[in-house]
Amino acid sequence: MSVLIKGGRILTAADDYVGDVYVEGERISLIGESLEIQADKVIDAAGKYVLPGCVDPHTHLDMPFGGTVTIDDVESGQTAAAFGGTTCHVDFIIQPPGSSFAEAVDDWRGKANGKQVIDMGYHMAVTDLREGGTLQELASLPDDGITSYKLFMAYKGALMVDDETLFRTMEVAAETGALVMVHAENGDAIDVLVKKALAEGHTEPHWHALTRPPETEGEATNRAIQLARVADCPLYVVHVSCREAVEPIQLAREKGWDVWGETCTQYFFVDYTFLERPNFEGAKYVYTPPPRAKENQDVLWNAVRTDKLSVISTDHCAFLWDGQKTMGRDDFSKIPNGGPGLENRLQMIHEFGVRGGRISLNRMVELLCTNPAKLFGLYPRKGTIAVGSDADIVVFDPEKKVTISAQTQHSKTDYNLYEGTKVTGSPEVVLLRGQVLVEGDELVAEPGIGQFVKRAKFGEELKPAPTVAA
Ligand code: URP
Ligand code: ZN
Ligand code: ZN
Repeated sequence: MSVLIKGGRILTAADDYVGDVYVEGERISLIGESLEIQADKVIDAAGKYVLPGCVDPHTHLDMPFGGTVTIDDVESGQTAAAFGGTTCHVDFIIQPPGSSFAEAVDDWRGKANGKQVIDMGYHMAVTDLREGGTLQELASLPDDGITSYKLFMAYKGALMVDDETLFRTMEVAAETGALVMVHAENGDAIDVLVKKALAEGHTEPHWHALTRPPETEGEATNRAIQLARVADCPLYVVHVSCREAVEPIQLAREKGWDVWGETCTQYFFVDYTFLERPNFEGAKYVYTPPPRAKENQDVLWNAVRTDKLSVISTDHCAFLWDGQKTMGRDDFSKIPNGGPGLENRLQMIHEFGVRGGRISLNRMVELLCTNPAKLFGLYPRKGTIAVGSDADIVVFDPEKKVTISAQTQHSKTDYNLYEGTKVTGSPEVVLLRGQVLVEGDELVAEPGIGQFVKRAKFGEELKPAPTVAA
C-alpha cells in the first residue's frame, strides 16, 4: 500500500513548509515539492496541516482503581485516541501488590491483545518491591521495551510507595537506562487531611481539592527531584498542576539536571470552582492532583511555552459519572479519581494554545508529539515527519468547526470535561503506519491493527523497524 499526501502544510517541532509526503508500506519514504509519483491512495491536503501522529505518554485503560475499573478498555480508549489524532500512547501497568512484574506484564498484554487500534507501549508502576517484584526483575524490564518506572507518592493504602521503594527504584533506573516517573504528592499528609475533613462531616466533592493543597504537590516534587539527584537517575514528573510544582522543576532544569515535567490538558481549562458544581456534578472533576485555583492556568501556559514543562498528556482515566463517580456521593474520598481526555487534547491545545496565541504550531507539535516520543524511547519512529519514520500522520483541517460533546465522543464515559466547547480545527484523516485509521467520522481500520512497541532505553533512539519481506 502506498499513500501520497499532496500539498499540505507539513509541521514538525522544527519545520513548517508546504510539500508532499509519500508513504510506502509502513514508513515515510519521500518528502518533496510537487512529487510526480503513482500511489494507491492520494490525499489532497491543500489548506490542511500535516502533523505527526500525537503521542500520549500518560493513560490508564482497563485499570482497576478506586474500587472499580476504568470504563475505557484498550479498544474504546484507543478508538477515542485515534479520532483525536493520537496514534501511539504509553499506558501504565500497575503491579498488583504481592505480584511479580512478569505476572503484571502478562495480565496487561492480555487485556490489549486483539483490541489494539493504535500503537502502544507500557510503563511499569512499581507498588511493592518486598512481597512481589524483585529488583532483578525490575532491572530486566527495559530489555523488554518497558523503559520507564512509575512511582505513586500518594494514594496511601493503595498504590503509594514509601521513600525507600522510590529511592531503590531510582537506583535501579540509574543502572538500567529507565526513566523514573513520579506522581508527586505527599500521600501521608493528604491522608491526615482527608481523615480530618471526613471526621468534621465534610463529604462533598470539593473537599477532594481542599485536602490536597498545592504545597503537598510542591513538597513531593522537590523530594523526588532531590532523591533522583542522589540516585543519579533521570526524572519525569507527571501531571503537574500548580506553581508550587512548576518552581522546583524550573530550578532543577536551570541547574541542568535531568528533570522534566508534564502537565495535562484539563489543568489549563478546569479550575477549583468546577468541583463546587451542584447536584454532585463536581465529582466529574475529581482527579488527582485536583483542579487548582484559576491563576495556575497562566503559570502552566507560561511553563509549556518556555520549556519549564515539556509535555502535555491527558492522564485519561475515565469513569462513568453515573454508577462509578457516584460511589462517592456520601464521601468524596470514595469518588474514583480520574477524568477522560484522550480524544480532545489536540483540538483543545490547538484552539486555546495556538489559536489563542499562547504557543506556536511548532511548539504544539513538540509538546504533543516530539517530546513525548523522545523522552519515552519512541523517537524518531514516532513523534515526527521524516523519511524513515513510521507513517503515523494526521491530516488536520484547521478550519473545521467542532462542538465538543459526550454525545459524539468515542470514549465509553458519559460526560466530557470540555462539554460544549467550540473549537476550530480537527483531525480529518489519521494514518497509522501507512494505513488509514480514521477518515472523517469513520474508523476505517479494524481493532488489531495496533502494535506493542518495544521502546528504546532513556536517551537512545528507536530505529525504524526492519522491513518485513513480502
Ligand atoms: O486522578 C487521576 N489522575 N487518576 C489516574 C491515576 C493517576 O494518579 O494518574
Ligand atoms: Zn497520578
Ligand atoms: Zn495518571
